[in-house]
Amino acid sequence: SNVSDRELRAPICCFLGHVDAGKTKLLDCIRRSNVLGGEAGGITQQIGATYLPAENIRERTSLKAEVTVKVPGLLVIDTPGHQSFSNMRFRGSSLSDIAVVVVDITRGLERQTIESLDLLKHSSVRFIVALNKVDRLYGWKNCPNAPIAKALKSQSDDVQMEFRWRVTEVVTQLMENGFNAALYYENKKIKQVVNIVPTSAVSGEGIPDLLLLVRWVPEITMERLTYVSTMECTVLEVNEDKDFGTTIDAVLINGALQKGDRIIVCTNQGPVTTNIKYLLTPYPMKELKVKGQGMYKHHEELKAAQGVKIAARGLQHAMAGTAIIVVKPGDDLE
Ligand code: GTP
Ligand code: NA
Ligand code: MG
Repeated sequence: SNVSDRELRAPICCFLGHVDAGKTKLLDCIRRSNVLGGEAGGITQQIGATYLPAENIRERTSLKAEVTVKVPGLLVIDTPGHQSFSNMRFRGSSLSDIAVVVVDITRGLERQTIESLDLLKHSSVRFIVALNKVDRLYGWKNCPNAPIAKALKSQSDDVQMEFRWRVTEVVTQLMENGFNAALYYENKKIKQVVNIVPTSAVSGEGIPDLLLLVRWVPEITMERLTYVSTMECTVLEVNEDKDFGTTIDAVLINGALQKGDRIIVCTNQGPVTTNIKYLLTPYPMKELKVKGQGMYKHHEELKAAQGVKIAARGLQHAMAGTAIIVVKPGDDLE
């Protein structure tokens, strides 16, 4: 069938970068949430997942631009930047179709930025660089939620000059790490050269551009986004929930899950076979890892990509990073 007629799943987009570059704050700005405010010491310590429906993305993208691929939405994955969580960065990047590497414009490339770039290089995942905290440039005039070109035009010559040399510095550092990169609106070879989009997670400049770019990237990763019925799902963490008992948070990467499905989960005491009692998701634009009563939607069936919460017996010792397998009638359980 024609590629444009195929059913596409939501792409998974991972936010990676050095500690405090602004990954969570950017997602808060996009979601209009305050997940960062609930983090101990403002440090992300667990992978997060948030579903952004296409209409919400469109609403934030004030730019008029052609997007030919119709994806139902975007599943964004937040990762910790702290050096001790490299396993979670690996997990996040390996389940992603595209990535956003967040760089603090006042600091340039840092240790975990480079680690993230290496992960993406090895997994051949395409990415965008969000050059964040432009509002920290000395003398920056806020233009809330404006496209970046418009915001830059309103700045003084001094700010524009500082912006220019900081961009040049980051482009040089990226080059030293094996990537050609350019500001996206000056990029003539979008398929070979990495796009840089300047952003502020505080005043929102460049957010429309960022959302537009992550929506565009799927066009070049189409093959990966063709929906398949083979289920692929990775465990993020195990939780005790007051209402649902032991649950696991997971990312449904491809395929579908149904309430009642017989699943096999890897635990540190061996494989456990169980049945899905409740199949839950947070509401759209809400972070999966933010816990609370009445925060979840019940589902009979769910299609990828989604952040899901699964309640079932025997999940206590499930291991993060392992796959969940569905046992279909006629399958050999052994
Ligand atoms: P980790 O998850 O711990 O790796 O950090 P992070 O990359 O998620 O960064 P986070 O969102 O926690 O932001 C770090 C700090 O920078 C917070 O105090 C934010 O308020 C601040 N910050 C983030 N983005 C911006 C920005 O665009 N401008 C300004 N001025 N501050 C920002
Ligand atoms: Na932080
Ligand atoms: Mg964070």
